[in-house]
Amino acid sequence: MKISFAKPEEPRSGAVVVGVWEEGKLTPAARRLDEATDGALTRALLAAARFKGKKDELLPVVAPAGLTVSRIVLAGLGKLEAVDARSLQQLGGTLLAHLNGAGEEEATFAIDVSEEAAIRPADAAAQIAFGAQLRSYRFDKYKTKQKPDQKASLERITVSTASASLARRSYQPLEQAASAVFFTRDLVSEPPNVIYPETLAAQAETLAELGVGVEILDESKMRKLGMNALLAVGQGSTRPPRLVVMEWRGVAAAADAERAKPLAFVGKGVTFDTGGISIKPAAGMADMKWDMAGSAVVIGLMRLLAARKARINAVGVVGLVENMPSGNAQRPGDIVTSMSGQTIEVLNTDAEGRLVLADALWYCQDRFKPRLMIDLATLTGAVIVALGHHRAGLFSNNDELAARLIEAGKAVGEELWRLPLADSYDREIDSDAADVKNIGGGRAAGSIIGAQFVQRFVNDVPWAHLDIAGMAWSTKDAATVPKGATAFGVRLLDRFVAEYYEQE
Ligand code: BES
Ligand code: MN
Ligand code: ZN
Repeated sequence: MKISFAKPEEPRSGAVVVGVWEEGKLTPAARRLDEATDGALTRALLAAARFKGKKDELLPVVAPAGLTVSRIVLAGLGKLEAVDARSLQQLGGTLLAHLNGAGEEEATFAIDVSEEAAIRPADAAAQIAFGAQLRSYRFDKYKTKQKPDQKASLERITVSTASASLARRSYQPLEQAASAVFFTRDLVSEPPNVIYPETLAAQAETLAELGVGVEILDESKMRKLGMNALLAVGQGSTRPPRLVVMEWRGVAAAADAERAKPLAFVGKGVTFDTGGISIKPAAGMADMKWDMAGSAVVIGLMRLLAARKARINAVGVVGLVENMPSGNAQRPGDIVTSMSGQTIEVLNTDAEGRLVLADALWYCQDRFKPRLMIDLATLTGAVIVALGHHRAGLFSNNDELAARLIEAGKAVGEELWRLPLADSYDREIDSDAADVKNIGGGRAAGSIIGAQFVQRFVNDVPWAHLDIAGMAWSTKDAATVPKGATAFGVRLLDRFVAEYYEQE
């Protein structure tokens, strides 16, 4: 779908969208169109008793005689004070879905929030476009028999704004963000016979084109490093594991030492999680193709940071394995020695993500001495029980880091909720036979237990763990996220970096 920005002029074809404030006040562009149509919009507003101009409310109006456009859509803008980047993205996404549903091929968005709102007109135009773009994502490459009306109809959106060239500039980084989000969504959507450790590593390798240093560790390198926890997860599969390291340098080494230290992002990349010998039930097992979402978010984030030449140093580390049962698979009861030297009693082979993170995190902090470390993982079903599909679980050993992540999440609409870490929970993973065991005694506090396990492999670096099991995939369309892979975390962490580390 093509998005462009242009100075306001009378649209000649396709759909035209104009804005209405809550309680029916027309924006200037809407007023002009109303005059040009002898009051058709005012009449439509009067006739539609339930349309109040509330945020994201839409009122389609059949194009009055004498106009060549196919339809006019009145878009509710809600209350002036509540307009911000996020609300405009949502409007753009909602409009995109509406126009696709109506079969429009072309649309002009003449939604000027101009003078009144707290956001610059050019930025407002760019944010509406961003929302529409984010919603337009589709993963239909394996559909060979789509009928025309099953495909997206909308081909072109023109966002009209008096400051078109400013809007174009404002949209540029947003377009890069959308492209990184789509990249992540593609990786997560691909089936597990297509995306497995080697192929996912090959996808990460494409970041080299953007100036990212990419290094791929194979099994023998990992064995030499002592990554036996990660390797144990992969040993049941015929597909060999990989560990990918991505480095982005946006600050010269000569800069002050603290700023030159990288921000580190670590992802769980289980390309398929059968549970291993502690095998999962058949129903719903196919969902476990997206058990690599944490790694796909890290890869997409690194791509975005490089694409927009972020003024920070960052490192991404993803542990890629397939968790399969086989004659060579690890058994419940096995004890493995992790890279940290700590021994782990594996009592449930389905609690595998934490074993992957244990070695990936240890390697990351050991090699890069990062300024902070954030891991993302579809780690526990229990976080869905706790928070549903509305917020990801956040765990951290650092209050400032946690607060920054929560703020960044709010700003982009990818929300987090902090859950506790404490010694009392940690006692539950003391093992009788080894240093630590990979599950607790019962079903209680499953996400916290998972986080406590991960924390055993983190030294005193500021660290946060995002359990995204409830957020990586969605079964319902949302304004800027069509159902399917969400790429939850890419925009959050990009914002986190931009807001708190590039301004310094
Ligand atoms: N990948 C799963 C967690 C998961 C569940 C993600 C549902 C997305 C949706 C993870 O590896 C797992 O199997 N966790 C177990 C842990 C248990 C064995 C302690 C779980 O949540 O049941
Ligand atoms: Mn599992
Ligand atoms: Zn898993």
